[in-house]
Amino acid sequence: MRILVTAGPTREPIDPVRFISNRSSGKMGYAVAAEAAKRGHTVRLVSGPVSLAVPAGVERALVVTAEEMLEAVVERLGWCEALIMAAAVADWRPREVSPRKIRKDQMRMSLELERTPDILSRVKDGKGSRLHVGFAAETHEVLESAQRKLASKGLDLIVANDVSQPDAGFEVDTNRVCLIGADGTREELPVMAKSAVAGRIMDWIERRSGRR
Ligand code: CTP
Repeated sequence: MRILVTAGPTREPIDPVRFISNRSSGKMGYAVAAEAAKRGHTVRLVSGPVSLAVPAGVERALVVTAEEMLEAVVERLGWCEALIMAAAVADWRPREVSPRKIRKDQMRMSLELERTPDILSRVKDGKGSRLHVGFAAETHEVLESAQRKLASKGLDLIVANDVSQPDAGFEVDTNRVCLIGADGTREELPVMAKSAVAGRIMDWIERRSGRR
């Protein structure tokens, strides 16, 4: 299959030296890209700023902002049979970006923000038979929120995880997730290495597309 994976955070600049971002390390998305390539799929990875090596056999494009990630995804959409959005796209960006470093005595104490584009929602129309997989990193009402995002973003599968647990979510090498399919299936997985979670996600995709 031709698989497009996004990973890592995005960064939304305030000025040339400051930005808004989040704690995503990119480990989960890179693990999915690596696993898919290992299984013989053709994999393209669109990645925000992370300090991870490109997995073997994967073609990587680096982006910084949510807007750039949207463009990179849209460019590759016609090519792929499955889109796996593991990236933690920043939800807001400063309304104005200063071209020069803001001096501390010139900085107002509040930042005016605006929403970034929601990539999965933007590419929902015209999805056709392409598989769309999203992630939901939650601290509360985990399964309910994930179920809501599955429906509103028109996904085939959502990978829900509770990032308030120390062995799941940001920066660590393990994750504890629940796979929720639009077809009503639910697979609650125990804590396992992100590479093993990636394997279970790829199992689901291959099953769904009739490759297994
Ligand atoms: N996502 C996206 N574009 C955004 C934000 C999120 O495509 N601007 C994708 C993520 O890559 C993920 C899914 O949507 O696969 C859910 O992301 P999440 O941050 O949990 O959800 P949000 O829609 O941002 O909702 P909220 O922040 O209110 O929980």
